[in-house]
Amino acid sequence: MTAHVFLNGQWLSPDEARVSVMDRGFLFGDGVYEVIPVYSRRPFRLEQHLRRLQTSLDGIQLANPHGMKEWIGFVTQLSAEAEWEDQSIYIQVTRGPMALRNHAFPTQVTPTSVILAEPMNTPPASQREQGIAAVSAADIRWLRCDLKTTSLLANCLLRQMAVAAGCIETVLFRDGFLTEGSASSIFVVKDGVLLAPIQNHLMLPGITYDVILELAARHGLPHQVRDVTEAETRSADELWMCSSTKEVLPIVTLDGRAVGSRVGADGTPGPVFAKMYAWYQEFKATVMRG
Ligand code: PDD
Repeated sequence: MTAHVFLNGQWLSPDEARVSVMDRGFLFGDGVYEVIPVYSRRPFRLEQHLRRLQTSLDGIQLANPHGMKEWIGFVTQLSAEAEWEDQSIYIQVTRGPMALRNHAFPTQVTPTSVILAEPMNTPPASQREQGIAAVSAADIRWLRCDLKTTSLLANCLLRQMAVAAGCIETVLFRDGFLTEGSASSIFVVKDGVLLAPIQNHLMLPGITYDVILELAARHGLPHQVRDVTEAETRSADELWMCSSTKEVLPIVTLDGRAVGSRVGADGTPGPVFAKMYAWYQEFKATVMRG
């Protein structure tokens, strides 16, 4: 494997790349991250991901160690050099090492920044064709879910609930409203209208979420961005999850019950999903052709 890691300004092999145990990312989860999909060596929505990285850094009061142009250069170089055509590029910036363990920030911060490429594993066709199963849970995360921080323990526990139940994702509700999935954005389709929860401090502003809403607008699919209740989610005609690595997938059972009230729904992906999936692939192909 020839994967390269870019650590604090140096290109290294994964074996050479080392971070201190005193790094605040390790001890406190004090850092932020991004996951950028790369198709045919072309990063998808790179500037949007890097802008969100900046928002996350601002949200945790950490100066960006690199300018936008520098980040674009690093990601472009890595996506050109990594051995896979389709990749998932991971960026992480932490508040770096400290001399003694202390919750308060060090006076002199030396951030740790890392970029690495992994092969992109898009979901198998069977998940798209047959749909996936999800469970639901109370959203137990903190109140700044709009920041893409590496403190992901609650998300990990919530995702593990799905895995333990033989499912793919956990759909989260807070105070009777849909927020998102443990590592995805969630959409509801009801009576032909696509419903998207409002982006606020309780959910991540998903890059794929934006693409889906743009495609809905472009193709004249009725859509509303508004609070979506748990009851609406449970009585949805269709339920989708989306993210940079999963693209868009139909959820066909929630807590063991078939999603969809239309005739013959019986837990199969819906017609609006089929359209959106096709629009998404078509859009990707145009972007990739440049
Ligand atoms: N996660 N919400 C949460 C909590 C997420 O972790 C993610 C993605 C999304 C979707 O965001 P986007 O469309 O920008 O990928 C929403 C990434 C893929 C991860 O943590 O690996």
